Amino acid sequence: MMRLLAVAALASGALATPSAVDPLSAVTGLVPGGGSGSSAGSSPMGKFNPLDVVLHPVEGVMTNGERMRRGLPPKKPHFRRADRTQRARPRPSSTPGQPSNPGGGCAPRNGVIHVTAPGRGNNRPKLDGYLARTGNEFGEYSYTAARDNALTVSINNCTGSPFDIVSSNGYQAYPFLGGIAGFANDGPNLRQGSFNYVYIGGVTQTAQGATPKNADNSFTAATGIQESVESAIWSFRDGTNDLRAQWINEDGSSPADRIVYVPSANVFVVAGDLAAFEQSFGPAEEATFRFES
Ligand SMILES: *[C@@H]1O[C@H](CO)[C@@H](O)[C@H](O)[C@H]1NC(C)=O
Repeated sequence: MMRLLAVAALASGALATPSAVDPLSAVTGLVPGGGSGSSAGSSPMGKFNPLDVVLHPVEGVMTNGERMRRGLPPKKPHFRRADRTQRARPRPSSTPGQPSNPGGGCAPRNGVIHVTAPGRGNNRPKLDGYLARTGNEFGEYSYTAARDNALTVSINNCTGSPFDIVSSNGYQAYPFLGGIAGFANDGPNLRQGSFNYVYIGGVTQTAQGATPKNADNSFTAATGIQESVESAIWSFRDGTNDLRAQWINEDGSSPADRIVYVPSANVFVVAGDLAAFEQSFGPAEEATFRFES
């Protein structure tokens, strides 16, 4: 009877089905959020991601459920809000003139990044979901349709724009959501007529208006390939919660910047020329990032 069942299972293909997603992979960001398509982002045209390197898992922040499944004790919640930390920190008495709250009642806001895209057909899907808390195996954040899987972020624009976006459940070692120069680029610069692009991942903090800086980031952690980064690239489009990602070139110039979804890799990039990008790497489409608190 047992053997009969096994044979039946084999025949029906049940045993060929991969087992449920390994929770470890889910938190280390090895599984693309959408689950469809090749996460390598290889296209017959160009190599969007390096395909011949040894990849290292980039550790994500685990939820208590994920910790329990891995036999770890639950973590005590710690409500570490930037404004509270600032108030708690004793201020040096030598700077009495400094206002304790330069924003005048302004406080960091927590939320998620709602992603939409119109869906232009021909492998350019309609999107209505979120920037995911997990990424692909190259350390780039993915798209997810499920709010439960959204990256939770904190935005502090109290001192103006551009500002940093800090994640609390993404790549643990790289909480700053920022830009990472594309692996196939001819340099860390975006411009018209060039396919150059910038991945969106976890990066080291850089100053407002900083030019590309060689510093640790989730892509480099995953691939061992050095790329330069910028963190403070974010601002709101006039009077809205729509986010803009303004990359700064090496010469200090501000190129055209469009947030673009790349279906073949299920990730986002900032591109300076969408048509040139598509010519090299295949279908892609402009997406809107909206901060939702
Ligand atoms: C922060 O962003 C909001 C829009 O979400 C805007 O109303 C506000 O003026 C901004 N604050 C500063 C200091 O720029």
